[in-house]
This record gives sequence, structure tokens and C-alpha cells, in this order.
Amino acid sequence: MQTISVSQLKKHFKVFKKAPGLGATFRSVFSRPTEIISAVDGISFSIEQGELVGFIGPNGAGKTTTLKCLSGLLYPSGGEVKVLGFDPFLRNSNYLKQISLVMGQKNQLWWDLPSLETFRLNKEIYDIPEKDFEKNLDELLVLLEVKNIISTPVRQLSLGQRMKMELIASLIHRPKVLFLDEPTIGLDVVMQKKIRDFIAEYNKRFNATIILTSHYMADVKQLCKRVIIIDHGKIMYDGSLERLVEKYADFKIITAQLRSDKVDKKDFTKLGKINYFEYPKVSITVSKKNIKEAATILLKKFPIEDLTIEEPEIENVIRMVFTKKKT
Ligand SMILES: Nc1ncnc2c1ncn2[C@@H]1O[C@H](COP(=O)(O)OP(=O)(O)OP(=O)(O)O)[C@@H](O)[C@H]1O
Ligand SMILES: [Mg+2]
Repeated sequence: MQTISVSQLKKHFKVFKKAPGLGATFRSVFSRPTEIISAVDGISFSIEQGELVGFIGPNGAGKTTTLKCLSGLLYPSGGEVKVLGFDPFLRNSNYLKQISLVMGQKNQLWWDLPSLETFRLNKEIYDIPEKDFEKNLDELLVLLEVKNIISTPVRQLSLGQRMKMELIASLIHRPKVLFLDEPTIGLDVVMQKKIRDFIAEYNKRFNATIILTSHYMADVKQLCKRVIIIDHGKIMYDGSLERLVEKYADFKIITAQLRSDKVDKKDFTKLGKINYFEYPKVSITVSKKNIKEAATILLKKFPIEDLTIEEPEIENVIRMVFTKKKT
């Protein structure tokens, strides 16, 4: 059985449209025109237990809406969703005890109280036996290195410390399935890395199934073998990160170090698109089918000291998928 299976999931929102101008405002008092937004427009995918999948796409693509449908906060307009055999929207307590939705932009911690109080509240909500609670809490405190601030009122914590506490509050019931919606947003790079390492560890240690959204490619690169790319509510790609590069990037980057500046920049343009030329370095984008030939010409006809051939940055490849350009 798949841990998560989504078939033709749709979520529409009906929103009021407001035409510009005062006249339109008056008219809209009587009949407000509405419009339907297809936030999620018929997506299908399935995820196995223990997978950690990156769910990426530009702003407004439908990521948060999908995660809300999966965690039972939104009722789908169409299609079918099954997680751990449950229909999320029924919000069966046996279901809610096994999942968690973590939103980097929202907080559940009690602002004026120490984090411990929120953890205790969640213990009651999730009906966690005292022994399990203590064991889980201790494990999480150690993993995230925050034992010392558990009694500090939340409002005195830094953003990163708060995010760690949010994670503990969301994981204290040891969910099997995690929906992480931008868990590293706004954090400095060191803290981002710590949260990433923690997610990787949680995934491994408990064989948890995780869907992660993030706008930071470092998160995706470190954590996700598989990515699902969504844009305008539709899936553009579902597969391994590696294959994404192979499929969409039909070019590589040649960087050469020159021994002498007695070269004509124009000669490089015959090989491909020049990214930059700052003596002694030149970087050229060359289509895959020409790569061998270009490298041979460079070595034969130019004073080359050193030469490297690299795959393009994943960021650039993903941007190409968004713009649906195959280079
Ligand atoms: N409650 C709502 N009512 C009306 N429209 C909504 C609602 N929630 C989301 N939308 C719209 O649905 C679309 C998808 O939104 P969603 O929040 O899922 O995007 P996202 O991929 O999470 O984007 P981001 O990367 O900015 O978080 C957007 O056009 C958004 O305006
Ligand atoms: Mg979102």
C-alpha cells in the first residue's frame, strides 16, 4: 500500500473579483462578480513509506493548498486522497495522531508561555502516555539542541529557536507522515542547515514519510532524491532530481582557464553562449551534443591551462521547467 496516494486532486476557490474604479465598487455592492481559481488542478502522485519528496513550485503554484488537502484542513473540490489508508478530510483522530502539518509561516506555540506548556497541551490533545511523551521530548530536545531554552517564554526566543520549538510541538506525537511547508523560511543559513539535518535524521530514524516544500534549493538538494514540480496547479515533473537535469538541461557549462590573453572573444561564440569572459577565465554554455567537439576545439586552438565541464545549477534547471523552456 502506498502511504500517500493522490488521484486527480482538485481544489477550486471562489473569489470576488473587483474591477478597478469607483463605479465598479458601487456596482459590486449589488452584484459582485466572482471568479474561480483553480489552485490545484487535477494532480496525481503516490508516495511510499519512508520517502522524502520535495514539492516545489513558484509562488501561488498550489503547494500549500495541496498540503492542506492532504492534512484534512481543506475539502477537495474533486479527486481522491488517501493517506495511511485514511480520507484526510474526515479528520479521524487515529489519522490526526499519525500526521503533522508544519508551516514555517504559522505558529502554534503559546506566545507568553514557555514552549514546554505547548508541548504539554499537545500531549493532552494527542493523548500521549506520559512515558512516551518524556521519551519523545527528550529525544527531540537533544536532536535540536534546545534543552536549555525549554522554559523560556516563546516571545523571548529567536526566530530559529522558535522554529525548532515549533518542530518539537508538531512532532511530539511522533507522526509517521509529515507535511513540511517551508520549514526553513527566513532562517539564516546555519540554522537552515541544522533544520535540514534534523529533517533528514527524523526521516531516517523513524522511517517517516515526508513531503517538503521550500523555495531554498539547498533544502531540496540535500534532502530530496525525488521532486514533484507544480505550477498553476498542475504537475510539471515528478521524478528524481538527477533525471530532471538530464531531461530539461540539454546543455553543460564549460569553464576554461587560459594561459595567455591572446585570444579573440569572438572565437568562443562559435562554440556556444558565453556566460562570461574575464581573463584568465571563460565560461561557455554548450549544448550536450556539441560538448565533445567544443572541448576538442578549445584544447586544440586555444591556450588552455585547465578545463572543466559541469552540469548546470539545479536552480537554473528548475527555472527552465517553470518557464516550460527546454533551453
Ligand atoms: N483560501 C483561499 N481563498 C482563495 N484563494 C486561495 C486561498 N488559498 C489559496 N488561494 C489561491 O490559490 C492559489 C495557490 O495558493 P497556494 O497557497 O497553494 O500557493 P503556494 O504554492 O503555496 O505558494 P507560495 O510558494 O507562495 O506559498 C493562489 O492563487 C492563491 O491565491
Ligand atoms: Mg505556500
